[in-house]
Amino acid sequence: MSTVEEMIGRTDPNDFEAILSMTNTDPNEVIHSVENNAECIYSWDYEKGARPQLAKLYEKAKAGQWNAETDLPWETEVDQEALAVEEYEMNGSAGDVMDLSGTGVESWGRNEWVKFNMESQNWALSQFMHGEQGALVCTAKIVETVPWMDAKYYAATQVVDEARHVEVFAKYLDTKLSGTYPINVHLRMLLDDIVQDSRWDMTYLGMQIMVEGLALAAFGLIYQQSQEPLLKQLLRYVMSDEARHVAFGVLSLKEVYSDMTQAELRDRQEFAFEAALRMRDRFLQQEVWERMGADVKKVIPLAYADPLRQEFQQLLFTKIVPNCKKLGLLDGGDGWLRKKFGEIGVIQYEDWVDTAEEVDAFAITRELEAEAAANTES
Ligand SMILES: [Fe+2]
Ligand SMILES: [Fe+2]
Repeated sequence: MSTVEEMIGRTDPNDFEAILSMTNTDPNEVIHSVENNAECIYSWDYEKGARPQLAKLYEKAKAGQWNAETDLPWETEVDQEALAVEEYEMNGSAGDVMDLSGTGVESWGRNEWVKFNMESQNWALSQFMHGEQGALVCTAKIVETVPWMDAKYYAATQVVDEARHVEVFAKYLDTKLSGTYPINVHLRMLLDDIVQDSRWDMTYLGMQIMVEGLALAAFGLIYQQSQEPLLKQLLRYVMSDEARHVAFGVLSLKEVYSDMTQAELRDRQEFAFEAALRMRDRFLQQEVWERMGADVKKVIPLAYADPLRQEFQQLLFTKIVPNCKKLGLLDGGDGWLRKKFGEIGVIQYEDWVDTAEEVDAFAITRELEAEAAANTES
């Protein structure tokens, strides 16, 4: 058992001083290497369908493939500034709802807030791109480390999915937006932790349940808010894959956790909570405030308290919490994770639908069929 301090380096999860003192040591780094401590496992048991639910998901994955270059309307003109102006006119700025004196942004007018909206978008999509690369690497690791053949098959399809996701976010950033950001330090620490762990189920928990569960919720929120047709379709297609990925995690871990001791489960609960905090910290978008010249340590605690921001932060957990419940992680042992999720204000989502149940609702089968039909006609 670890203390919260041992897990995240601070006792109070909301200690902004400590959170913001963590920064990337080398923002110009191009190659980042991490020790991968896991064993590579071969299985000589080739029975297909030994785990029927995974075998079914593998079939769905093969039918759900799309091509990032040809299936998205890349010819769409995107006027990022006009969209940022629209957003400003609709939602205003943090300066409208709180006193930002002494933060360096108190004198910002419309131009600065519009620029801030654009930078926020550059930042958010950059972090998604980095997270997608994390998923690419982690899923390749699962292919190596999981002992079940059906899971190796499925994970192999996910590797292709994740390559496509890195590809689409990189292309959107490069051709439609106005800049990129290096990986956020909290996200990087989490990805490093996941790769370093020697236990194969921890890759699943860190990536499929936590990182991808959060991504699925975040993509859904942005999909609802965005008016930009290319981004909407891109997210819709990516979400159809992500829902399968999260379901893959839920179906696999359910089997693994059913045989675990209380102590082993507690390790998983702690890892899930650590991941939850790291991901919450990453959404503080400290790099955007920094690039815009704000006093980061003053402005972030205020921006964090903005009720709209709080609601967004909480909604990011709408997939994670029900999935953890389905896995028995909320109430395992003495219910430690339930208590912790209560403390960070996200336990209210426990009875929302879990992703193994809703995976088909995200499928893009109809779109892909319509496209195939159009191709045969022409
Ligand atoms: Fe992905
Ligand atoms: Fe994924």
